[in-house]
Amino acid sequence: MVTAKAPGKAILLGEHAVVFGEPAIAVALDLETTVTVDVGGERSQVNERPLNHKAHAYLYEAVKLLWDERGLDIKVESGLPSAGGLGSSAALTVAFVAALSKLRDDFSEEAVARRSYEVESAAQDGRASPTDTSTSTHGGAVLVSKDRGEKFLWRISRGERTWNLHETPCPDITLVVGYTGERGRTADQVAKVARFVEKNALGRDVIKDIGTVTRQGKSALADGDLKRLGALMNRDHDLLHILGVSTPRLDALVEAARPHSFGAKLTGAGGGGCMIALTEKPEETAAAILLRGGEPHIVKVNKAGVTVQ
Ligand code: PMV
Repeated sequence: MVTAKAPGKAILLGEHAVVFGEPAIAVALDLETTVTVDVGGERSQVNERPLNHKAHAYLYEAVKLLWDERGLDIKVESGLPSAGGLGSSAALTVAFVAALSKLRDDFSEEAVARRSYEVESAAQDGRASPTDTSTSTHGGAVLVSKDRGEKFLWRISRGERTWNLHETPCPDITLVVGYTGERGRTADQVAKVARFVEKNALGRDVIKDIGTVTRQGKSALADGDLKRLGALMNRDHDLLHILGVSTPRLDALVEAARPHSFGAKLTGAGGGGCMIALTEKPEETAAAILLRGGEPHIVKVNKAGVTVQ
């Protein structure tokens, strides 16, 4: 029997601009999905139900890619809120792929990250980026960029796109995640930004500005300068707002969090989903988010990434 735990993630800076070749930084969160796998029986089952490609798309694709032996008894426990943008499908995929890799006796971080990206891509019709799965695998803070830099982890390519994944220094920070209760579809938001950027020079400037903010954020993070990092997160939110991916509810939660934090912004694709606030006063920030109708979660950065026992 093997038990694997993998964390969710939040994008700290750079979402959307990363689609146009600018860098992005994601952090693994101490909210985890646990998957326990036991080999035996004819048919595979998940929490006592038959494994099914519709109900369990990610697990199904992972079995297809990595397992052709006897049935698996899979137990899934998600400690991640089912809120958009926190990488819950990546955490599930990484934990299960890590467990299967261990059972096959060929576990390595890089192999888990690559296989998990394949699985997520297959389950999402090729639309995934490797940011979530690599961050969930490696833990800490991960920098994604077009070019290869310091503390390089691995490179993942698909079609015309290439992502270089790096470890990037990160102090112990506390974030408050605020879920709006709305769901935005990543593909819709990415398409909307693409239209804006194609037609409008302002759109292209905003993408470049997000890239600059992310590079400055990388050094603020390395220096442990949370005040500066927070200011950059505020600026990033305003730029994402111009791109049209914020919503009135996201703006309201960001505004509610700011007086109690170093900075706050939407995280992930937007159009709903979650915002994050960087703060030294998590209880106050969480209370302010709750008062504005959001669902707050106080989280820390998960240094470990995926673990298998
Ligand atoms: O919503 P999430 O957490 O999957 O983030 C999407 C990030 C984008 O930059 C908007 C898209 C991408 O593929 O990088």
